[in-house]
Amino acid sequence: MSNNKVTRRQFLSYTLTGVGGFMAAGMLMPMVRFAIDPVLQKKDGGDFVTTDVAVADITEEPTRVDFTFEQVDAWYTSEVTNTAWVYKSGDSIVALSPICKHLGCTVNWAGDAEYPDQFFCPCHEGRYEKNGKNVPGTPPLGPLDVFEVRESADGLLEIGMAVPNNLV
Ligand code: FES
Repeated sequence: MSNNKVTRRQFLSYTLTGVGGFMAAGMLMPMVRFAIDPVLQKKDGGDFVTTDVAVADITEEPTRVDFTFEQVDAWYTSEVTNTAWVYKSGDSIVALSPICKHLGCTVNWAGDAEYPDQFFCPCHEGRYEKNGKNVPGTPPLGPLDVFEVRESADGLLEIGMAVPNNLV
């Protein structure tokens, strides 16, 4: 006979450890899954938001376009409204972010009667040219961001992510 016999105490110890391990895994797996669930979610079809503005109606005059989308922050979903200043430039559509590059106030087209062809930030009198270039001598140190844009199959303007200005 071998001396490697498993005692009753060892058998119970191994069995309880194994069963306990399975039970712990059964309890922990859902918690781990819950914790990392947002990371595992697939995003559906790009990050463009369809506006109710027809591309054919866009003119060369910057016009304010509000667009709403659902923002998912982990498990919390909220509805967010964003704004772009949209105009036609040759064959392309430009959508500028209204967020001032100085301290984040909102700029307006022709917001200052003295500069009717520029964006104006009322907070510290920052100014930008039509393409978003910051006017030297005013507080902003960089140009306004631009939104990615495209046209939907039915001719509506779709607005995507804000990216650094490539027009200036
Ligand atoms: S926040 Fe726009 S100029 Fe200061």
